Amino acid sequence: MLEEIEELRRQALAEIAAAVELQALEELRVRHLGRRSRLREVMSQLGSLGADQRPAVGAASGSAQKAIQEALDQCKAALQEAAEAGTALDVTLPGHRPLSGHLHPLNSLAEELSSIFQRLGFSVVDGPEIEDEYHNFDALNTPADHPARDLQATFYLEGCGLLRTQTSTVQIRIMETTPPPVRVVAPGRCYRRDAVDATHHFTFHQIEGLCVDRQVSLADLKGTLVTMARQLLDPQTRVRFRPHFFPFTEPSVEYDFSCSLCRGEGQGCRVCKGTGWIEIGGAGMVDPAVFEAVGYDPEQYSGFAFGIGIERIAMIRHGIDDIRLFLESDLRFTRQF
Ligand code: DAH
Repeated sequence: MLEEIEELRRQALAEIAAAVELQALEELRVRHLGRRSRLREVMSQLGSLGADQRPAVGAASGSAQKAIQEALDQCKAALQEAAEAGTALDVTLPGHRPLSGHLHPLNSLAEELSSIFQRLGFSVVDGPEIEDEYHNFDALNTPADHPARDLQATFYLEGCGLLRTQTSTVQIRIMETTPPPVRVVAPGRCYRRDAVDATHHFTFHQIEGLCVDRQVSLADLKGTLVTMARQLLDPQTRVRFRPHFFPFTEPSVEYDFSCSLCRGEGQGCRVCKGTGWIEIGGAGMVDPAVFEAVGYDPEQYSGFAFGIGIERIAMIRHGIDDIRLFLESDLRFTRQF
């Protein structure tokens, strides 16, 4: 008899646990605790049992009844709560989609640019973000009194160098370890002690390009940048050079792309501010002093180098007006790309 009571209890609890509707729960109550239930029948026969059996069977059936009643109450409360919250279990609802990440817009742009240059025969290389003054400045022909070396412009690390201010450092590292010819691009992060506002940040990204061979000319530089611009933006894009100065190139230029929004028309365009052109970066022919620093013979070799501001292109491309957004942890920004 005790075994039967245990079985009744087990059966009832299992069925209650599986119930998903209040109606079904009421039917279970009638079946397991109702007047014509087997448990009640057992209890009504207690009086006819011998004194040796009565206490044990009485206690077991009482405790089974209590446990079943408690399970019914709990399950009823849970189902009522769910019904009130409008979240009653609906097995036809779609499941939860697992979160899947994607590349940050700056990384995907850097990859896109890298693959354009790879198709032009450039290899993708990397360099350290923690640099020494030699690679960031001296070898790049930047003298000790140059304003970029000021404490106000560069993050110096106590006793161990600085955070690179430009990816041009990688030019030096590659030429130090590779004999010419070289053709590389180096995407990466840079740091400057700039006050942060909508267009400046203390950290940003560049892609450096370097091509050294016999008889490389400024025309090769322009052809490379035009090809990059047309593959990245649209096939009509034009590139313009403006004379400029960089210590490590001679001659040096700043280069602009024709605005891809107004197609260079200018007038009233908010992206290029009416000029028809958008400044992208700096470039030039590698200065012979740089070749000498790395042991290349400037009489035999010539080369071009360029730097591209990745944030600049990403901002133009996606119409982003604040550079700080790229470092936001708010996923509402990154999810848009
Ligand atoms: N490193 C320069 C900067 O951050 C950009 C630059 C200019 C890179 C001329 C070059 C170059 O490779 O030839 O402002």
